[in-house]
Amino acid sequence: MQVLSGIQPTGRPHWGNYFGAITQYIALQDAEQAFYFIANLHALTTVRDKELLSQYTLDSAMDLLALGLDPDKAVLFVQSDVPEVSELCWLLMTGTPMGLLERCHAYKDKKAKGLSADAGLFAYPVLQAADILAYDSDTVPVGEDQVQHIEVCRDIAGSFNHKFGEVFVLPKAKVLDSSARVPGTDGEKMSKSYGNTLDVFENAKTQRKQIMRIATDSRPMDEPKDPEGDVLFQLFSLVATDEQCAEMAATYRQGGFGYGEVKKALANAAEEFFAEARAQRDDWASRPDDVRDILSSGAAWARKKSAEVLHRAQEACGLKGY
Ligand code: ADP
Ligand code: TRP
Repeated sequence: MQVLSGIQPTGRPHWGNYFGAITQYIALQDAEQAFYFIANLHALTTVRDKELLSQYTLDSAMDLLALGLDPDKAVLFVQSDVPEVSELCWLLMTGTPMGLLERCHAYKDKKAKGLSADAGLFAYPVLQAADILAYDSDTVPVGEDQVQHIEVCRDIAGSFNHKFGEVFVLPKAKVLDSSARVPGTDGEKMSKSYGNTLDVFENAKTQRKQIMRIATDSRPMDEPKDPEGDVLFQLFSLVATDEQCAEMAATYRQGGFGYGEVKKALANAAEEFFAEARAQRDDWASRPDDVRDILSSGAAWARKKSAEVLHRAQEACGLKGY
């Protein structure tokens, strides 16, 4: 299997990103040949600030390394360090029907809101197709929201192959486990856009305060409660051990406890769960040049592979051998 996925550098990762995506990507590095990249060209469609984009790019690499991405097992690089992908993107763009892109969510939603979209947002799925096809990837781990883009990639690759011969490998989406849907501090889906996040690399003291502020229901304390439907319990079960969870579930069912106790237990469990990653994150932050070295050797690998694929595609459609 050749696994590939891209992560947009748009800010600090929250628990939803971690449990819903990052930890699942990283787990694949042990069994498969995996390529992971920081999608800074895609982020350019939303982050229009020079300092911020370059900071987020390096930060995202540090985040992934701190969370266990091992550069000896997986290739980690920055999207814009592989110019072959942008070249391949043009080649694919020429065969992509407008109608296919007009149906894509990100563009359609923006248009529906009456906002003006730029050509970058419109062509976003074609660049994503180039990302995938450039490394002969066959497996693309993504959240539910990205499945449409993988289907578009298959359409584009299929019609290129139909016209010019078997050049591209058709990839499959590996949809991440959506049972890991993480609620935010207000009970809605945790998301940057809702301002309800708990960040993975938050300082423990600040996070404790955020947890203490989570809104809870106001049923009397002595009433037994169902743990499954409770936000605090759902968050607790992500960071606590199985034993702690079983104990906490029994406490809920018995009743006679205060939510303050649960919040304290949640803050303690979170602190312990993320302690190692937070220490690692500080360590990577203290040696940014080592991170840049990892990214640069990752890009060298990625360029080597993508140059072969690009060459194959160029030959097939008449850009070589004139
Ligand atoms: P946000 O909604 O904060 O902008 P993104 O859309 O950047 O988050 O999320 C990137 C990936 O992280 C998604 O594709 C999805 O797989 C995962 N993810 C984000 N929020 C959650 C959540 N609350 N629960 C589970 N997974 C999530
Ligand atoms: N569009 C993806 C997202 O927003 C990021 C991405 C860019 C990607 N290129 C990719 C994901 C290629 C998988 C494969 O999450």
